[in-house]
Order: sequence, then C-alpha cells, then structure tokens
Amino acid sequence: MSEVRELLKKSGYSSRAIEYYIGKVNVGEIKDPSVRCAYTGPCGDTMEIFLKIESNVIKDAKFQAIGCAGAFASGSALMELVKGKTLEQAEKIDEGDIMKHLGRIPKQKIHCACLAKRTFRKAIEQYRKDKN
Ligand code: FES
Repeated sequence: MSEVRELLKKSGYSSRAIEYYIGKVNVGEIKDPSVRCAYTGPCGDTMEIFLKIESNVIKDAKFQAIGCAGAFASGSALMELVKGKTLEQAEKIDEGDIMKHLGRIPKQKIHCACLAKRTFRKAIEQYRKDKN
C-alpha cells in the first residue's frame, strides 16, 4: 500500500487526500437514508450519495463511487464538510472548498471535486422534491 501512497504523492495528492482515499473515509451506504442520489459526470464516473437529514440538518453523509482517486478523496472531503450543516449551508459548499479541505489534489482533478459537488446538490434537490 505504501507504493500506492508514493504514486499518489508524486501525482500531486496531499497526505490528507491520500489518507481519505486509502482509508475509504465516509465510503458506504446509510440504511434508511433521507435521500439517496446517483449522478454520472461528463468523465463517465458515477457517484452515489446517501444523506440522513433531521430538522434540516445533515446528521450523516456517505457515498459510493465508480471513479478515480480524485473522486474518492473529494467525496470523503465533501461528506466531512456537510455533516452537521443545515441544507442551506451545505449546498453552498463548492469544489474550491473541497480542494481547500484536501490541501492539494492534481489540478486536472478539479472536475472530480465537481462530480462530488454536483451529486450532492442533486441529492438535496431530490430530497426537497420528495418532501413536497
Ligand atoms: Fe472522473 Fe475523477 S476522472 S471523477
């Protein structure tokens, strides 16, 4: 596994991004989620997000992805960032915030952070639609 760490480091991933990716932080499913939503980005990778929402606050957030290391690191970071936030606060989080939280991922991987953001925003949209 340290070989993978080395390779990711050389490609431009920060230690936090590498630990998130290798540790599968926030990867998984939530049983009986308030909402689940999948989205496929222009690169062809897919992310699915599960949220537990109570009184307008995100109590838990997990994701699964068929995607690259950038998608996994970004998904982990976004789930960390949205937990404990209201829907209005969480939907303002964008790829810049994800990149800032991770410290560093390769520049060409910004669209992977976008995939996480878009999937999340679609999940919120879905949640609001289901509620009405
Ligand atoms: Fe598709 Fe990273 S290349 S999400």
